[in-house]
Amino acid sequence: MTTPRFAGRHVAITGAANGIGRATALRFAQEGASLFLLDLEEGPLTATAEDCRGHGARVAIATGDLTRRNVVENAFATAGQIDILFNNVGQSARERSKPFHESDPDTWQFVINVSLLTTMLVSRQVVPGMRERGAGKIINMSTESAFYGDVGMVDYASAKMGVIGFTRSLARELAPHRVNVNAVAPGAIRTRAHDRLPKEVIDKVRSSVPMGFVAEPADVAGVVAFLATDDACYITGQTLLIDGGRWMI
Ligand SMILES: NC(=O)c1ccc[n+]([C@@H]2O[C@H](COP(=O)([O-])OP(=O)(O)OC[C@H]3O[C@@H](n4cnc5c(N)ncnc54)[C@H](O)[C@@H]3O)[C@@H](O)[C@H]2O)c1
Repeated sequence: MTTPRFAGRHVAITGAANGIGRATALRFAQEGASLFLLDLEEGPLTATAEDCRGHGARVAIATGDLTRRNVVENAFATAGQIDILFNNVGQSARERSKPFHESDPDTWQFVINVSLLTTMLVSRQVVPGMRERGAGKIINMSTESAFYGDVGMVDYASAKMGVIGFTRSLARELAPHRVNVNAVAPGAIRTRAHDRLPKEVIDKVRSSVPMGFVAEPADVAGVVAFLATDDACYITGQTLLIDGGRWMI
């Protein structure tokens, strides 16, 4: 029997209660990792943790709003060593999304805080230890929507391109310390936000994907897991698009 890929590794995942974060937590649990899962939503977070324990993983959780510096600092104060961090929290303003000329700066602030500030605040907690140990993997969540430039999503695109700038700059800083920093940029993934869309919108999205289907959260989890392995040790500062071929670079 081969040793699971993440045996002995401590993995922190933000936004782990639902969707892509939950699928990634399960993937790491199945592959032998110990987990530190963070989210706003206590009930679903507890359920994810239980499901991960069902795969034999050791799991700690922290509930709170990760846009708040003190919440992040308190959560990581007793977290111990983190070898792999998946900065997954983020969202668009969804129902508050508007064309830019009608948009509200308070909404931009919300989107930038939840998508970019959380990524920076959480990374700040783990980077000193990774530098010191000369090892670590950070994977940040961007979106294909920022490459495409979706209408009504100026704030989201700005925040998620910010995540890519953060990824590149931090990757260059940490490369001499053998810490890899990369991003993933999913296209249409079947999560709860997607499930709330009208059928016509889903059909339109599907028909714009060369591969012809909307992917599952697990399809993103597999890519995140790959970037967290030593098979990806010579990849840093990159953004991997996971979008069925909609955007090719
Ligand atoms: N679903 C897609 O199609 C898609 C496509 C591209 C990128 N993304 C990105 O993937 C990430 C996950 O999206 P998802 O679709 O799985 O969303 P989701 O809403 O299913 O899950 C996001 C999780 O983050 C948590 N969260 C939100 N704000 C938080 C905060 N301030 N502090 C702590 N936790 C918070 C939520 O409670 C939720 O559990 C997001 O960054 C999103 O922008 C999603």
